[in-house]
Amino acid sequence: MFESLQPVAPDAILGLIGEHKADPRPEKIDLGVGVYRTADGETPVLRAVKKAEHHLVGTQTSKAYIGTAGDPEFNAAMQQLAFADSVSADRLATIQTPGGSGSLRVAAGLILRAKPDAVVWVSDPTWANHSPLLGGAGLNLKVYPYYDAEGHTLRIDDMLKTLRGADRGDIVLLHACCHNPSGLDPSDDQWRAIAELIQERDLVPFIDSAYQGFARDLDEDAYGIRYLASRVPEMIVSSSCSKNFGLYRDRVGTLSVLARDADTCATTNSQVNAFVRTLYSVPPDHGAAVVRIILNDADLRTEWVAELDEMRTRIKGMATLLHDTLKREAPDHDFSHLTRSNGMFCFLGISAEQVERLKKDFGVYMVGSSRINVAGITPSNVDYLASSIAAVLPALS
Ligand code: LMR
Repeated sequence: MFESLQPVAPDAILGLIGEHKADPRPEKIDLGVGVYRTADGETPVLRAVKKAEHHLVGTQTSKAYIGTAGDPEFNAAMQQLAFADSVSADRLATIQTPGGSGSLRVAAGLILRAKPDAVVWVSDPTWANHSPLLGGAGLNLKVYPYYDAEGHTLRIDDMLKTLRGADRGDIVLLHACCHNPSGLDPSDDQWRAIAELIQERDLVPFIDSAYQGFARDLDEDAYGIRYLASRVPEMIVSSSCSKNFGLYRDRVGTLSVLARDADTCATTNSQVNAFVRTLYSVPPDHGAAVVRIILNDADLRTEWVAELDEMRTRIKGMATLLHDTLKREAPDHDFSHLTRSNGMFCFLGISAEQVERLKKDFGVYMVGSSRINVAGITPSNVDYLASSIAAVLPALS
């Protein structure tokens, strides 16, 4: 039967890992997949994570199944991190999931159980895997405008106008912060405008929160989630610990569902858990146990927050450094938008052909849309990076 299958191209983001690895040029630069890197180009295990892992290995007495919802203490700590006290806990159900992607997949299954003809609106552009993942699960997707590639601004008026035309009950996928791929987030005022429209049109917010702590700080990055949670009857939040705890391969995340009332919440939770049982049965535990230990220990939590601040500060510094270096190497071109982006990603704003030339001629790897992972920039590679970018730009007279 397998003869009937057609080959599929490597993933637009993950495929770059292998391509970069296979490139023998020592000067090569990887600005592809979104993982944090230090100034030495490493993606280390966070110090707080190492300590929590030591504690876990020393104290864990069983590896027995933990249930479809995972660890209740982890779920409570993660729920608090995302929602704080914005909404009554009896309307909220949170389960542990295999990363943010696992959470999105469970959310898709839940939506389809509740409303088989549901429409989910996604931003243009959005994370390259959102449409394959959600659409592949069977959801109908529609697109709302988000990023103006010319001016590198948020198309807030166009976004609101389009969503004003959505049908009642439609679902709107939003990025909590550090919009992937553009790095452009709504301001607090814009979040309030989005919330007002969502309430007015009776839409359901579905928030992907993969970078809490990478834009401003843990609380400010949850502004949109908390503001909406305190106002809307229903909401879905997918959280990931891949980036902010550096637990990428351990697959740690949560799915939170806010329901109209406690009874509906309990029923929804039973459906979520029944669906998980048919999908992967129970979530992996190690990474979630590590997060639970960190969030519930004052010293480890302080250390983790400091490491998160360190990561955020380095990324912001590198965006500014690339901007300043490009100003020197390509003075006729405006890259000021680099300094306005939040989190790991932003668009360089060059064509797919120029991206391809950067890869072929200079060993500089980024996603075809010219999305760069700013964390891949270091003080040692920025000069080469900026001169390579300058070399593929057209001469402006
Ligand atoms: C990214 O956008 O690079 C990350 O979220 C990693 C991934 O799975 O695509």
